[in-house]
Amino acid sequence: MRARLQVQHLLDFIDASPSPWHAVASVEALLAKSGFIKLDEAAKWELQAGGRYYVVRDGSSIIIFVVGHKSLPETGFKLVGAHTDSPGLRIKPKPSTHVEGLLRLGVEVYGGPILATFADRDLSLAGRLAYKNDQGQVTTQLIHFKQSLLRLPNLAIHMNRTVNDEGLKFHRQFELPLLLSRVSEQQLPADYFRELLQQQSGIDAQRLQSWELNVYDTQKGAFWGADQEFYADSQLDNLASCHGAVQALLDDAVLQSGNTVVCALFDHEEIGSESNKGADGSFLPDVLQRIAWLQQIQGEGWARTLANSFLISADMAHAYQPNFPNAYDPEHKVRVNDGPVIKVNVNQRYSSESVSAAQFAGWCEEAGVPYQTYSHRCELACGSTIGPMASARLGIRSVDVGCPLWAMHSIRESAGVVDHEYLIKVLRQFYQAGI
Ligand code: CO
Repeated sequence: MRARLQVQHLLDFIDASPSPWHAVASVEALLAKSGFIKLDEAAKWELQAGGRYYVVRDGSSIIIFVVGHKSLPETGFKLVGAHTDSPGLRIKPKPSTHVEGLLRLGVEVYGGPILATFADRDLSLAGRLAYKNDQGQVTTQLIHFKQSLLRLPNLAIHMNRTVNDEGLKFHRQFELPLLLSRVSEQQLPADYFRELLQQQSGIDAQRLQSWELNVYDTQKGAFWGADQEFYADSQLDNLASCHGAVQALLDDAVLQSGNTVVCALFDHEEIGSESNKGADGSFLPDVLQRIAWLQQIQGEGWARTLANSFLISADMAHAYQPNFPNAYDPEHKVRVNDGPVIKVNVNQRYSSESVSAAQFAGWCEEAGVPYQTYSHRCELACGSTIGPMASARLGIRSVDVGCPLWAMHSIRESAGVVDHEYLIKVLRQFYQAGI
């Protein structure tokens, strides 16, 4: 029952988070209930032992931390990392085109979505707008169209007879623009779109400078299966891990543990993490170093801190789908609802190595959580996570783990209810563990 409540909480969290900017706002709302203080990177910080803080960089990456009472060089940082972004479609800067009385919005593909899954869905838009305020300063505002707004209608099978044999394909330039409206020949498409943004946001269309708008699926998350043991939603990769990490950190036993615990949720993982706020950027090193500096920990103390730190990179794993047995290594099938997965790749697409994997297995055992191990089929290219980059930049030992997921990068992914509870339990165990 507890697992089901946690997943319902997760589904509500995802439904309130239709873009990475909204995901960070949703996390901030959870933190506010537990007395966390927001820090501004441009301001002077004062940290207290036992204090609860978070920092947001550019709206869509967030680092949450609790300053422990225990000596940082002796206990290190206990870090969990995940990502706030999901692959999909983003609206172009000049999106509107007018064809045969229909207004379409041009899109760019963000990361590696399964494009066919975007067809015939009740799509809408969410993200942020940049505009000039009354003082002439550039400022941002979140925008979230809640109603179904856009659509990518399939071609009828009568015009695409081979679709079931050859698969559903979309030409990225010509066949992905989304239908928005019937318009008259007199309406200027660019003005029409700006006015739509004005109506939704209340920001004068003349003041709008630019936007980052994510195309999302308005269908809410749902439980499924004979015993409702599965759940489906968009963006499970990787908002499920973000939610699990935050829920683990907010546990009373973790907050009281005296450890310096950190939860780092990054944007831009799906496009390689190389940005000012991505996992391959300076955000995490900057924040960790500052936490240490403010406790007069530098030089050898800083080196000892990093050497005693540990990162769990939490991202979803590929669950076994019995209809496609040849897609998996037969010895490394991971099953939904059989527990979190330790992901191993000798080419370091995943950061796990034998020691970090064994340590994670130990926390699972202590928490009473089953675990599984995954290795990708040899002839297939393996995906990656934030783990290898974040641990390389800091020299911190790391393991890559995650819950089994079906249909990774579909607009509608699914996973197992008890796995989410298992993940929260083991992350909680890690956060409060002694050295
Ligand atoms: Co992911």
